[in-house]
Amino acid sequence: MQIESQNNFSEWLCGLPKAELHLHIDGSLQAHRLLSLAKKNGIALPYSTQQQVESAYHFENLQSFLDLYYLGASVLIDESDFYHLMMDYLLKCKEQNIVHTEIMVEPQTYAPNGVSFATMMRGFSKAIEQAQQEWGQSVALILSFLRHLDEDQCLETLEEARAFRESFVAIGLASAEQDNPPIKFERLYREAHKQGYRATAHAGEEGPASFIWDCLKILNVERIDHGVRCAEDPSLVDYLVAQQVALTVCPLSNTKLCVFDEMDQHNVLDLLNKGLLVTINSDDPAYFDGYLNENFLALRKHLSLTKEQALRLVKNSFKASFLSDDAKAGFLQELSQTADAP
Ligand code: ADE
Ligand code: ZN
Repeated sequence: MQIESQNNFSEWLCGLPKAELHLHIDGSLQAHRLLSLAKKNGIALPYSTQQQVESAYHFENLQSFLDLYYLGASVLIDESDFYHLMMDYLLKCKEQNIVHTEIMVEPQTYAPNGVSFATMMRGFSKAIEQAQQEWGQSVALILSFLRHLDEDQCLETLEEARAFRESFVAIGLASAEQDNPPIKFERLYREAHKQGYRATAHAGEEGPASFIWDCLKILNVERIDHGVRCAEDPSLVDYLVAQQVALTVCPLSNTKLCVFDEMDQHNVLDLLNKGLLVTINSDDPAYFDGYLNENFLALRKHLSLTKEQALRLVKNSFKASFLSDDAKAGFLQELSQTADAP
């Protein structure tokens, strides 16, 4: 591809207002912040320089990543730590023109370190309110559960969240798919639906296509996080197209975690061309070497993503969001004005 056309695409793409729907806040913990918080809180880590941290970020599969991801999150202890974590990511949103973001928050990660739900929420809320006031950032939070834990523990966390019910739009389900099928969380999702939460879940990243079916049919989720293994079941692909179930796909994550060996083998554009409501997201940008724009640029470089396809993906991100219809229409209008500008 011509360098000039690549530069032109990059400038155009970066300038578009975008939404991000699949982002784990702990996955946005940058190496410099990780080291400074570890020092402040007296937490021992197996690395002492930014270079050592970054050179440790080579993964064979999801579990090898999760081990470092949970270790990284262990440096978060007090309210100001959570404020800085959230603010660092929201500043990236401003820089990358991510005008709306839906962020997964995982209180169960911090509880073993003695961090209360209230401490976490005070820090996060302070950063979110500041970003809303200073540059009009739109944010929704997803209460994400760790599927390697027991369902009863998750139900206890859902109870604790009652005091913060208004802060969350939806629940989600993350961590290791292997040995933790959706059916394990049937009661959790039933109870969350009763409390008025909307719902999403990770499925079909490392787990089989049947896990996607189970999330839809048993957990009654509205959208699927990752979902790229849907391609293994043509009847599922047909269903996802017919129902316009959104997939929050994370290309750099999928190559870093070896879901696809190389970016040129990624199926996201095939899924888009088949009519699925796919969106592009960064998942854990500090670990996978790229925020939202870098994910789009990787598709441009390795899969020759066109402007028309990029625009469809960005539109999908607003359509598939948990925003109200009015808010979606407002963002879509802003998008078409920017994209059409000469
Ligand atoms: N938690 C953070 N990133 C994740 C991923 N890619 N899959 C499952 N759980 C996660
Ligand atoms: Zn994820």
